[in-house]
Amino acid sequence: MDLTYAPALESAAIAAIKPRYQLFLDGAFVDGGGDDLTSVNPATGETLTTVSTASAADVDRAVAAARRAYDGPWSRMGGAERGKYLFRIARAIAERSRELAVAETLDNGKPIRETRDFDVPTAAQHFFHHAGWADKLGHLGLGPAPRPLGVAGQVIPWNFPLLMAAWKIAPALAAGNTVVLKPAETTPVTALILAEILADADLPPGVVNILPGAGDVGSAIVNHAGVDKVAFTGSTPVGKRIQSELAGTGKKLTLELGGKGANIVFADAAIDQAVEGIVSGIFFNQGQVCCAGSRLLVQESVAEEFLEKLKRRVETLRVGEPLDKNTDVGALNSQMQYDKVTGLVEVGAEEGAGVWTSSCALPERGWFVAPTVFTDATASMRVAREEIFGPVLTTLTFRTPEEALAKANNTPYGLSAGVWTEKGSRAMGMAAGLKAGVVWDNTFNKFDPTASFGGYGESGFGREGGTAGMAAYLDTDDEGAL
Ligand code: NAI
Repeated sequence: MDLTYAPALESAAIAAIKPRYQLFLDGAFVDGGGDDLTSVNPATGETLTTVSTASAADVDRAVAAARRAYDGPWSRMGGAERGKYLFRIARAIAERSRELAVAETLDNGKPIRETRDFDVPTAAQHFFHHAGWADKLGHLGLGPAPRPLGVAGQVIPWNFPLLMAAWKIAPALAAGNTVVLKPAETTPVTALILAEILADADLPPGVVNILPGAGDVGSAIVNHAGVDKVAFTGSTPVGKRIQSELAGTGKKLTLELGGKGANIVFADAAIDQAVEGIVSGIFFNQGQVCCAGSRLLVQESVAEEFLEKLKRRVETLRVGEPLDKNTDVGALNSQMQYDKVTGLVEVGAEEGAGVWTSSCALPERGWFVAPTVFTDATASMRVAREEIFGPVLTTLTFRTPEEALAKANNTPYGLSAGVWTEKGSRAMGMAAGLKAGVVWDNTFNKFDPTASFGGYGESGFGREGGTAGMAAYLDTDDEGAL
């Protein structure tokens, strides 16, 4: 097959990245008291921009501004008026979608095809969807007039920077809360472009504050006495730490943490379709997805045929320049992630798993990893248990549905799973037995703001999206408060 394509580069100039970004605090762009951080383009290793960071005093100011906005204009405003702001923000994201997609690709390293076709449109959808809830809180099934919680402290990771900001800000505002949000230190740019959109939408000062910085800023936000609700997405160790720090404070907490999703392929599945699903489920976003299908469980009778087809398909994936519209697999987000992923690939080989790697050429610079498949792992291997968070698929086999279920559930995580079978009753039976917040049937990694997303066990608790996601931002007298 001829795999030579002419490059189709999106222009980096479209993003108009500024040399320096500031905090968005109380409706104004201001310098913070922390040291500036540099954000690096993962595809080149070059500095993309410089960003001012928050100090503890800035966190105090932001929480105070969020409280004033909550006690003032935001809580006095009717739901329909609040909804208008959300619609306005959604439209502005759509209008600036090309710029946001390029900025995200430059800052995160993921291919333009993903930012253009998934991250940015889905972020806009979340604002559109939640705009509709703002004046219908009494119809959520949570009582006639559920109340907001107050100030929400939100900390997000680097794998979906704009989308995670949208997932967190949109329901918080729809429910009537105000927000102090911290983007990840390696990907602050699109959250700060979103801040420009919020300012252009004339959102009252203090309703949303965006404070770049590292873990210390995140910690200052979530532990701040003036914060009523905490929403965190990131690693399991940091999530556990936040949970223990918040114990006894009465704050409502949702945690969306890691995963080790199983994609289960039965012999009767539409094999070519399943190959596509498995490939997109792990090589999509370089595998840097909490709900990635990072474990393939394939029925023994078709395992050989399936793996052959899978390898053939993976060989065709184009790895490289994220701004090229032909690119399937971009750069990992940071040197730290590159070291972690390549280190775990070595561990898998040492543990005795068969390692197959795509023969694709890798760019000379940037944090690129070739798509890799462990062909015959066992459940006790680290690569079958730990979240690798890279374009690395670990394959196990099974004979019976019961064995598939036992192997899929043999993980401390429980975020996502996929079932590939032509038999509807089997799919339903598996879904009932799988300990995972999301189970996809003959598809994978499909998202919609109306569908609740979240995990079990070490994948966290609480839901984002759908009515359960709204409940996380409302006073529902449930067990969600610590
Ligand atoms: P991390 O959990 O350290 O970072 C996520 C966010 O939390 C960042 O904004 C960070 O600044 C903030 N943070 C760090 N320490 C904090 C603290 N004590 N209090 C409050 N906020 C804090 O994750 P990291 O180091 O970026 O990635 C490590 C691993 O975590 C990855 O290799 C991956 O396995 C997993 N991960 C999972 C994600 C998911 O979507 N579930 C997202 C990012 C990472």
